[in-house]
Amino acid sequence: MNDAIKPGPEIPSQAVGLPLLSVVVPTFNERDNVTVLYRRLETTLAGIPWEVVFVDDNSPDGTWEVVRGLARRDSRVRCLRRVGRRGLSGACIEGILASSAPYAVVMDADLQHDETQLPKMVELLRSGKADLVVGSRYIEGYRAEGFDKQRAGASAFATEIARRLLRVDIADPMSGFFAIRRDRFEELAPHLSTQGFKILLDVVATAQGKLRAVEIPYTFGSRQHGESKLDSMVALDFLGLVLAKLTHDVISLRFVLFGLVGSLGLLVHLAALYVALEVFGAPFPEAQATGAIVAMTSNFVLNNFLTYRDQRLKGFAILRGLLLFYLVCSVGLLANVGVAFSVYDQEPIWWLAGAAGALMGVVWNYAMSGLFVWRKR
Ligand code: GDD
Ligand code: MN
Repeated sequence: MNDAIKPGPEIPSQAVGLPLLSVVVPTFNERDNVTVLYRRLETTLAGIPWEVVFVDDNSPDGTWEVVRGLARRDSRVRCLRRVGRRGLSGACIEGILASSAPYAVVMDADLQHDETQLPKMVELLRSGKADLVVGSRYIEGYRAEGFDKQRAGASAFATEIARRLLRVDIADPMSGFFAIRRDRFEELAPHLSTQGFKILLDVVATAQGKLRAVEIPYTFGSRQHGESKLDSMVALDFLGLVLAKLTHDVISLRFVLFGLVGSLGLLVHLAALYVALEVFGAPFPEAQATGAIVAMTSNFVLNNFLTYRDQRLKGFAILRGLLLFYLVCSVGLLANVGVAFSVYDQEPIWWLAGAAGALMGVVWNYAMSGLFVWRKR
């Protein structure tokens, strides 16, 4: 640490009562679970100075209000209420970075993770045997109550891909239950993706074998209240993470999704063009314009549901977003044609010029859409 940023002797350490463990709990609509979890933490962690940070993405069910209530009675409880944002990984990262104990553990609010493992996890970290302790579903002793067959199959498949492609050598990189040394996490944090669900996979892949990991089995319980927020979209998130890690963050999931939606848009365009020409007998220019508008509209809708689903526009903002998207895409088309033309001028290879133009168009549309249409609030 740089001398200039050390607190200095005039600020003595008030070590008494400082937490050894920060429990970080991401929440979304977990109103009925948080108090139960808090009580269980109190019981289990009786011998360890601890704190808990609930990171709530402004849950409509008012989870944050319940947490606030707990925090007003117990200073070990903190509520990080995030507005205008969604995402499990991002919530975990912010939660860990908002705490200061030497060890942090991430666990779900829905009581599916076995909190009685916490003292063991802390001990493994404290003894220096591990930098990372993972609650694992794939080692001997693990039992799952809340995990159906189909999901178990998909999870095992994704795990295999991750282990091979990203050379991740722990048995359960998809686990949402892990404890880590703060100093190691702080090093990794700037390189982690805030999108998606798979924060542990990201941590392990980013550390590239430099974390000493120990896995312990635990019983994955069944959800007490509320419902799972994992849907089929997590598969996409997973693919995106694998891609980003393989390309050293050059290619992001958003960009890939944006590009996929754009490619689909081309098909939509051709289909609409065909229908306008053949079914409605429209003249070519009008038919082509119709195709473009239909394609841009469908791209907008798909991007709003897929690419930017964490920042999805709703209500009146959809109309405004759509108009801006038309504008962005129109300029993108000019950029596309301009680049294609100048490439063709130098090197008259049609496919090279066409591809260069299309790439320019998608990069422009992507950059401008992020700035103006789905901009961060
Ligand atoms: N802040 C925030 N923002 N929290 C969220 C979000 C979000 O967008 N989405 C989910 N959560 C919270 C939930 O409220 C819960 O406390 C926890 O994250 C896990 O979400 P669940 O919806 O219960 O996920 P799951 O049980 O299907 O999956 C869990 O187990 C898997 C297997 O171990 C997660 O821990 C996965 O990460 C894990 O792979
Ligand atoms: Mn759960």
